[in-house]
Amino acid sequence: MRLNENIAISTSKVLLVPYDAHHVQQYHRWMEDPSIREATASERLSLDDEYENQASWRESRDKLTFIVCAPLLRDDDVSRTDEKGAAVLAGVGDAVGRMVGDVNLFLSPWDGDDEGQEQKQNGDGEEAKTYYTAEIDIMIANPKFRRIGLGRAAVATFLYFVRRHLDGILAEYMGSLDTAAAISKPVMKDVVAKINADNKASIVLFQALGFKQRGERNYFGEIEMVFGGFGETDEWVKTSSSSVMGDGYEELVYDRSRLEE
Ligand SMILES: CC(C)(COP(=O)(O)OP(=O)(O)OC[C@H]1O[C@@H](n2cnc3c(N)ncnc32)[C@H](O)[C@@H]1OP(=O)(O)O)[C@@H](O)C(=O)NCCC(=O)NCCS
Repeated sequence: MRLNENIAISTSKVLLVPYDAHHVQQYHRWMEDPSIREATASERLSLDDEYENQASWRESRDKLTFIVCAPLLRDDDVSRTDEKGAAVLAGVGDAVGRMVGDVNLFLSPWDGDDEGQEQKQNGDGEEAKTYYTAEIDIMIANPKFRRIGLGRAAVATFLYFVRRHLDGILAEYMGSLDTAAAISKPVMKDVVAKINADNKASIVLFQALGFKQRGERNYFGEIEMVFGGFGETDEWVKTSSSSVMGDGYEELVYDRSRLEE
């Protein structure tokens, strides 16, 4: 997605930056680990393919990706300029040693129950709505950074951002759909995490954030953890307290000027 191309999100617990070409080498190193590929249901890719993926995810209207980094600690991680306001310096605040994983969202049309299908139609005086769903993935690739609350802070902060920018996210996504879908009101029905049923860490993480299991373990050994009604209420904004996300949520300019020097 283009929406987050120039946005970094900072809290006292985590830093999220847009996935950029200068992150790809480290990302590729993470994905060389078979246990990471298994946990994230990913295939092994060449470095060239990983560069292609990074570029295509930026263009894809259905995928929103951030790299998760350790939180900003020192003033020199942030440049403050009059024209741009506060900015995170690309390659500094998110230097290789500070990158810890990624978090992303994948949008698709909702194919839920009859109730949702009915509301999809333009009933008597009722506003026509089209429902969408979003799948979320989280990875804290570097084991040194696991079990210190980073995964949970990253998901909570990311979904807080998504909820704040939902109209823009859906608008960008719907640019890829036909006009019929675009004339009714778009609604994000739910956010779903598909997790290997043996992945206790991930299940506990999503449970603690209010996600509930839907159905049983499927043929692939996965369960679905769902946050229902994500775009229909402001429940998520209420749920995501600063004790989980960290204090001082800020959206900053992602400044690439140092990369060009
Ligand atoms: C799953 C993963 C994202 C968790 O990230 P993390 O930063 O280690 O998790 P957090 O420190 O935020 O912990 C969140 C909760 O999970 C619990 N948890 C974390 N690791 C755990 C483990 N190995 N076993 C049991 N519980 C665990 C924590 O205790 C915490 O719960 P609590 O507050 O009740 O104590 C991380 O282990 C990971 O990326 N693994 C590989 C990729 C993967 O599995 N991704 C998920 C695909 S769906």
